[in-house]
Amino acid sequence: MTAPILRTLPELRAMTRPWQLAGETIGVVPTMGALHDGHLSLVAVAKDVCDRVIVTIFVNPRQFNNPEDLENYPRTEHEDAKKIDRFEVDGLWVPDGEQMYPRSFATTVSVTGLTDVMEGAHRPGHFDGVATVVTKLFTQTSATDAFFGEKDFQQLLVVRRMAADLDLPITVHGCPTIRDIDGLALSSRNLLLSDRARTVAPRLHEEMGGIAAGLAAGDAFCALRAAAVDRLEKAGFSEVEYLALHAQDDLAQLDAPTRTARLFAAARLAGVRLIDNIAV
Ligand code: PAF
Repeated sequence: MTAPILRTLPELRAMTRPWQLAGETIGVVPTMGALHDGHLSLVAVAKDVCDRVIVTIFVNPRQFNNPEDLENYPRTEHEDAKKIDRFEVDGLWVPDGEQMYPRSFATTVSVTGLTDVMEGAHRPGHFDGVATVVTKLFTQTSATDAFFGEKDFQQLLVVRRMAADLDLPITVHGCPTIRDIDGLALSSRNLLLSDRARTVAPRLHEEMGGIAAGLAAGDAFCALRAAAVDRLEKAGFSEVEYLALHAQDDLAQLDAPTRTARLFAAARLAGVRLIDNIAV
């Protein structure tokens, strides 16, 4: 069964209203399209957990701090719809910019604290854009459950904070990062890597694994980090924006894994910005 594509809010509400009245659970998988197996794994979990599933596709201009990045972001709606077919989801919510942000739109949802570091520090305004659009996607779809990948771990925490603070009646589920066979975390941006850059890209995850092993053996984080950055730059990464240890719950920066921690990285390779994180 091909899922209906809804492009206006009245159409979407007409679809979800009977589900709500029947007391059915509604899962939402928010995406910006260019779907890969990571997204599809979220759809599969949503199908297991919820009575109804809506996948959203909207390339959200408000979360891009760089106009070139927004312009280059892959847009593949037709292929995306085909990839989702086999999951028999109940609807694809594909609003356009005017539907999402009419000219009079004047509201921003802003989460403080968790957004001070990493993506928040390096991409000003990014998380305001994410929190605003995700709040809208949650209320538009009337979802009871939402599914996010741990690849964007900071985003997952920000969305959870926003949903709790705004008393939104929704459970936010975090799902494991899906990786290619060589360890590269799946991301829509991987489509932008040249063949050569694609062979180098897995080095990021490899170096992160090396740091995790070093920490487990009792080595000092700052030495492990410095050596890894040096090797990444030699391998072709032009800029390592951050390679840092943060507490898993509040994202406080750590010098050593004294609390449950994750290692986070963002680095540029041939003009493409890659991010990743692993538990340590
Ligand atoms: O992770 C993404 O693809 C986006 O940040 C999201 C959650 C769909 C909001 O635009």
